[in-house]
Amino acid sequence: MSRILITSALPYINGVKHLGNLAGSMLPADVYARFQRARGVDVLYICATDEHGTPAELAAAAADQDVFAYCEEQHRLQHDIGRRFGLSWDWFGRSSSPQNARLTQHFAEVLEDQGLIEERTDKLVYSLEDRRFLPDRYIEGTCPICGYEKARGDQCDNCNSLLDPIDLKNPYSVISGSRDLEVRETRHLYLLQSKLQGRIRSWVDSRAEFSALARSIANKHLDEGLIDRGITRDLAWGVPVMRGGQPRTGFETKVFYVWFDAPIEYIAATEEWADASASGADWRSWWRLDQGADDVRYVEFMGKDNVAFHTVSFPATILGSGEPWKTVDLLKAFNWLNWYGGKFSTSQGRGVFMDSALDILPPDCWRWYLTANSPEHSDSAFTWEQLTAAVNRDLADVLGNFVNRILKFCEARFGGVIPEGGEARPLELALYESVSARVADLTQQFEAIEVRKSAQALRGLWVLGNEYLQEAAPWTAIKTDPERAAVIVRTAINLVGLYARLSAPVIPFAAEAMAYAVGEAWPPTWPGVDAALELSRLPAGGRVTVPPVLFKKIEEVDLVAWTERFGGAD
Ligand code: MF3
Ligand code: ZN
Repeated sequence: MSRILITSALPYINGVKHLGNLAGSMLPADVYARFQRARGVDVLYICATDEHGTPAELAAAAADQDVFAYCEEQHRLQHDIGRRFGLSWDWFGRSSSPQNARLTQHFAEVLEDQGLIEERTDKLVYSLEDRRFLPDRYIEGTCPICGYEKARGDQCDNCNSLLDPIDLKNPYSVISGSRDLEVRETRHLYLLQSKLQGRIRSWVDSRAEFSALARSIANKHLDEGLIDRGITRDLAWGVPVMRGGQPRTGFETKVFYVWFDAPIEYIAATEEWADASASGADWRSWWRLDQGADDVRYVEFMGKDNVAFHTVSFPATILGSGEPWKTVDLLKAFNWLNWYGGKFSTSQGRGVFMDSALDILPPDCWRWYLTANSPEHSDSAFTWEQLTAAVNRDLADVLGNFVNRILKFCEARFGGVIPEGGEARPLELALYESVSARVADLTQQFEAIEVRKSAQALRGLWVLGNEYLQEAAPWTAIKTDPERAAVIVRTAINLVGLYARLSAPVIPFAAEAMAYAVGEAWPPTWPGVDAALELSRLPAGGRVTVPPVLFKKIEEVDLVAWTERFGGAD
């Protein structure tokens, strides 16, 4: 059995994620994982919360909680919301786990042994009042480039320039507001990425399956020349800097930089998964080329802002170690989902967030909408109109209506039993042919992770059912030719079973209800392309039931209430 390791970028711990985060990493990863499991592939889908660094410390302080309690609570919350969205993680870990601390420290040690880590003296801003250094977001001030007055130390939110905290004008401490600041010297560890330039370039060249977007971002950094990167920070919350099992001298009040330990958590979360499993699962067989991982295919999902970290920085860590770690085969990167002229924004609370999304619509509606309108090859814009069309037209009018109509008819006219008798006629043979071709297409789109094209192919299959029913008109046939009606009903009910299997990666909740209604097996298996065969799986004599309304339509009053609550209107 082939094996596929899937990871989606680890969501930051600081608060519930918005729909853009879902659409650009976790959801497409889940759809792919569900598809491959149905194909019979041994899938391991790993995700985790990214818990370290200044964002976590600041969010905890703002919530008036200590950072441990804050992370614990937020992790549980994100885990719960992910589950309610149907995200089928095999493990949802925490970058603050002991496994990640050990592995991060291990990587730092072997990198140093390889001559790739060096201690350097940095000049950083120190707050006399707070009696501490102010890394990254702990300092704000006026952007030296655009003059925006609330630029953060590491980046200006107005002009998006990456900044060095010591360049801010009129800087102040985010903790106390104090302007009593000075520049002090402090020691930090640097990862000598400049020495890895050649190795990373040939590794990128060897990644035949990288998308154009991923490759061009990697090459841009390589062409500019890789720069050595500080991998420690003057912070309390993070992985302690150790050497030989002891705190490293001079680094007692420092931790590793969050972007150093976060991707290592992909591996550590797999270790967490194995440690928690009763069956003696082996995490090394997924990650170590010398311990069985050479037959693993590794696919990563992320937003485009994460690509440089995954094509350059993380590879620098694992290739530089000199150890035989598995690296990514296919990196699927996404663009932005925009929100009415701007971006979804966590810091400004703009857009719809995963928790409130579930207050207003079931998970499948969001999953379908965000798949069909995925910000895949370019940015896409969230609109209430498009959401309404996706739910009311595709899900309710096309799929839901078909399922409901045929099952009600079977109940009314055949007592809820799949009728026997009759034979396939040209109409059925034509249906088999179209279904076969479209199943082949859908399979190929899912396999290629063409997200929008998968949704189109799926919708095309749903439409076939309605067209078939319209032409075959069992409600007429039943009056003159009951055998003919029996064939039609049997065929259409088999279509419901087939739709359950084909739709399950995208709309797993409705798919399960459909499977249950017609007696199709669950969890689903992926069909072959012989539609004549796949549409005679559910034999005559089987019982069917009418499921509760699969998709409720969005009404005008809903839209009024939602735009009032969330904003967004043309
Ligand atoms: N937390 C980061 C973000 O949301 C992603 C981290 S991905 C990891 O942009 F690989 F570094 F963990
Ligand atoms: Zn600026």
